[in-house]
Amino acid sequence: MLDGKKVLFSGMQATGNLTLGNYLGALKNWVSIADDYETFYSVVDMHSITIRQDPAELRRRARTLLTLYIAAGLDPEKNCIYYQSHVSGHAELAWILNCFTYMGELNRMTQFKDKAAKHADNINAGLFTYPVLMAADILLYQADVVPVGIDQMQHLEITRDIAQRFNAIYGDVFTIPEVYLGKVGAKIMSLQDPARKMSKSDENPNGSIYLMDDPDTVIRKFKRAVTDSEACVRYCDEQPGIHNLIDIYCACTGRTPEETEKEFDGKGYGDFKMAVGEAVVGVLKPLQERFADLQKNKDYLDGIIKANAEKAQYVSNKTLRKVQKKIGFPERVR
Ligand code: TRP
Repeated sequence: MLDGKKVLFSGMQATGNLTLGNYLGALKNWVSIADDYETFYSVVDMHSITIRQDPAELRRRARTLLTLYIAAGLDPEKNCIYYQSHVSGHAELAWILNCFTYMGELNRMTQFKDKAAKHADNINAGLFTYPVLMAADILLYQADVVPVGIDQMQHLEITRDIAQRFNAIYGDVFTIPEVYLGKVGAKIMSLQDPARKMSKSDENPNGSIYLMDDPDTVIRKFKRAVTDSEACVRYCDEQPGIHNLIDIYCACTGRTPEETEKEFDGKGYGDFKMAVGEAVVGVLKPLQERFADLQKNKDYLDGIIKANAEKAQYVSNKTLRKVQKKIGFPERVR
């Protein structure tokens, strides 16, 4: 609890260009629940360096992501939007928690196995202890809820295990966080391969709609979207491409799948794809305009970044000092 509200923490990596999937599956959700919680939304740039990054590119993307949080509708005066690397407690608590995490536990992480296979030439210790840094992110703010996708569930579970282990030894230091899974149906798949999640790291750019895609590009990608030969807009598992397009349409318009089936009853895929494309443009355009305005306003953004980092530092230090005391580090002379 902070100021009488439950605490929510979440973070996103600034690797790759954000897609419509990230927006509809995560960011939009964050915005809709933000008012109910005391929120911390971090751009987790420290996690990004577990994979080799180009420095200028990392910096640019981190700023883009932070700006997008705001453009998507998170008021930075009410939501603590900040860079993970600006708050020293993340690294400090991560080190301590490393000493309460077992090799065997980390060895079981499926994301580590996947990433290690993908980056066989750079299996560094940071990649291995990535979930511990994530635990530190969450526990530093005493978060009650953590909205994440299914792929991060295992990391949430290890976070809870580490927190419970620590609490069992030292008393109630950490709040045990709950996962907050978004609404079902918000999982957006690739337009080129509806069996795969729409991803920022897809090699085929036609599979993903990027948040910065202009209207023509959006429409073109929807026209090319993979469907089937049923020629009928129906919401069923046998038509995964159409299923995905209906999900996107519903997420953008607020309609239900049944309403959508009725609306396009007797119409061809061409009409339907066009309508989905236009619905997406309708969502992206205002977001892109707000983004452009914010980007022009450098001083405003810099001010937000500074003030929120200070707030995050202040809140997280409370937890950090408590932890340091519990484990026996010497007290600081004031
Ligand atoms: N690992 C998360 C991802 O890749 C990002 C992340 C880092 C995160 N720290 C977090 C998410 C803390 C929620 C809470 O999606």
